[in-house]
Amino acid sequence: MQFLDTYKDLFLDYLSANKYDKAPHNLYIPVDYILGLGGKRIRPLLLLLAADIAGQKAKEALAAAMSVEVFHNFTLLHDDIMDEAPLRRGHATVHEKYDTNTAILSGDVMMISAYKCLEDYPSDIAIKLLKIFNKMAVEVCEGQQMDMDFESREDVSIVEYFEMITNKTSVLIGAALQMGGIIGGLDDQSANHLYHYGKNVGIAFQMQDDMLDTFGEPKVGKQPGGDIIQNKKTYLYLKTLELVGENEQSELINLYGTRPIDPTNKVKRVREIMKSAHVLIHSDEVKNEYKNLAFSHLEAIKMTGQQKTQFKEFGDFLLSRSL
Ligand code: IPE
Ligand code: IPE
Ligand code: MG
Ligand code: MG
Ligand code: MG
Repeated sequence: MQFLDTYKDLFLDYLSANKYDKAPHNLYIPVDYILGLGGKRIRPLLLLLAADIAGQKAKEALAAAMSVEVFHNFTLLHDDIMDEAPLRRGHATVHEKYDTNTAILSGDVMMISAYKCLEDYPSDIAIKLLKIFNKMAVEVCEGQQMDMDFESREDVSIVEYFEMITNKTSVLIGAALQMGGIIGGLDDQSANHLYHYGKNVGIAFQMQDDMLDTFGEPKVGKQPGGDIIQNKKTYLYLKTLELVGENEQSELINLYGTRPIDPTNKVKRVREIMKSAHVLIHSDEVKNEYKNLAFSHLEAIKMTGQQKTQFKEFGDFLLSRSL
């Protein structure tokens, strides 16, 4: 998508002009390490697109774009400790490369730095941005706690799963868009519709992330089958339980009650049971429902057809990702 290249260049230039190259190095080197590993940069790009469409304010929105990307990467540092993940973007996670204390403290400074990025906006804008940001940040913590609580619970419902992923993932995508809209001068109601576009795209995005975790290629850059190893209560797991017969149901529940040192057979068998239930078809269907819901919010925003198309193309691109 050509229109994204301009935003990507703009953001990457800003990122390299704002490196964390300072002392104490043991605190900041891991920050530059994780931010330098790339990633898709979808949150800052969505924020810049929103600011540009709302009022051609992409440049003014760069500090906020930095804020959401730094916050996102902070959540990854802590998430990888919680999920005991060895790999991130095809490289060692921060707690593996350095150590857990480093990942905690470098993560902390990133979170604070994410707030700092918002300091210099005019006070009427800054207060709006902070309110959106604070609400989102609390929800992300709540979602992360639910995600971990669910690992050891056997009675998680599909409704609870959606509440969990809404909090841990999708509200940040929604907030990024809403913040971009506000900086661009969009009225509150339209900015709110942008938030809901992002939130629903975000739900579909996390479903896709779960599908890639379980069935994706190693090029995804994370440990294949990580969610199965950690007994994550994904839609794939919960829906499969509904779809299979009693024997496979209890086999799946039993497999999810274990944490073998060598998880190869567990991952293989869980995948087989999920495949036999054709659960990916169901997951894709629900994912598309969220995408359509997301797109319906665009209709309520005053913008040109071409601008709507850009948001739709971005949505399609995010949800067909293989990385
Ligand atoms: C990973 O987010 C965490 C989730 C919310 C699924 P991304 O898939 O956006 O990660 P990067 O930044 O592109 O690596
Ligand atoms: C990501 O959830 C949510 C946050 C980081 C807040 P996951 O645990 O599924 O993300 P990945 O798969 O490790 O990127
Ligand atoms: Mg994780
Ligand atoms: Mg996680
Ligand atoms: Mg995941």
